Amino acid sequence: MIRRILTGMRTTGRLHLGHYVGALQNWLELQNEYESYFLLADIQALSTHFDRVEGLEDSVRQVVIDWLSVGLNPQASSFVLQSKVPEYYELTSYFTFLVSMGALEGNPTLKDEIKAYGLSQVNLGFMMYPVSQASDVLLLSPISPQPGDELLVPVGEDQLAHIELTRDIARLFNRQYSPIFIEPKTKVGRIPRLADLSASGKKMGKSTNNAIFLSDTPTEVQEKVRQGMTDPAKIRRGDSGNPDVCPIFSYHKLFQPTEMVEEVYAGCRAGSLGCVECKAKLATALNTMLDPIRDNRSKIEQHPNLVTEAIMVGTEKARDVGKVTMEAVRHAMHLDYPSILGNKLFDLSP
Ligand code: TRP
Repeated sequence: MIRRILTGMRTTGRLHLGHYVGALQNWLELQNEYESYFLLADIQALSTHFDRVEGLEDSVRQVVIDWLSVGLNPQASSFVLQSKVPEYYELTSYFTFLVSMGALEGNPTLKDEIKAYGLSQVNLGFMMYPVSQASDVLLLSPISPQPGDELLVPVGEDQLAHIELTRDIARLFNRQYSPIFIEPKTKVGRIPRLADLSASGKKMGKSTNNAIFLSDTPTEVQEKVRQGMTDPAKIRRGDSGNPDVCPIFSYHKLFQPTEMVEEVYAGCRAGSLGCVECKAKLATALNTMLDPIRDNRSKIEQHPNLVTEAIMVGTEKARDVGKVTMEAVRHAMHLDYPSILGNKLFDLSP
């Protein structure tokens, strides 16, 4: 029985709390239960960063250091560098013929991103990254799946539209050529979408500029929390506040144990707890959570080889699976041309 995970992140810089609660905590729980592949999506990062390529290598490193710091274990799971898996490019190009332009134009996540990033010109690579994401996932599919085989994609809520497309592509391919792919399942994390602290309604991200990074110092965290919004009607300590409209309180709910949440709630309502003190409590809780991650980070930063090695080993492992997949794909699509070339004469594997 094959039970596999493939999921990933774009390598566009350091990771923040939204990545932690939306994805990484979920991955940590699953990494020992499944044969896990975590993708460093550096090609997908080009969809928005094609004009900032100098920073790519460092971003890949930062993401791996974040992964290791939170406890992803490269001995148990594989860290895969997308650009170094040639099989992805090939599979993506075959999949493009199974997807209509309309399906991409209507994709809600693409629409949101175009707005959020303020893209005035949308390049083709950006429009078709969901197709390449489908190949990220399906390259790791158990081939001609048996009952009990599984391919799981643990992701944040914003990715569900893409995984739906992946399932569509698997189904179309299976119907058109040969039933070799499994339809992957998704699993959304504990907190599918972490709002930022500014009451903007946006999710935490680099564009919201007060994202709390896993690599922030305790003082940086305090400062970002201090700048967070609270109930605008509560001006000074003594005023009764409404926790239900307060972004800071919503973080207490996510990051504090129930007794603490109740205490904060009551204190805010009664006016006995001021916003300054309330924010300090939150910052302390966040820093307590982040401290062990910081400790790990400082150890890892002394051994840069760990990063390189994790990527090399993991990428090789994914390629081993990918080569088998591509043989099945070429065969299913009649692209192996045995009668003309002979498989041995013309070995396509890079
Ligand atoms: N789109 C994901 C993000 O924005 C990254 C990603 C690339 C991904 N390939 C994937 C996620 C495959 C899940 C599965 O972070």
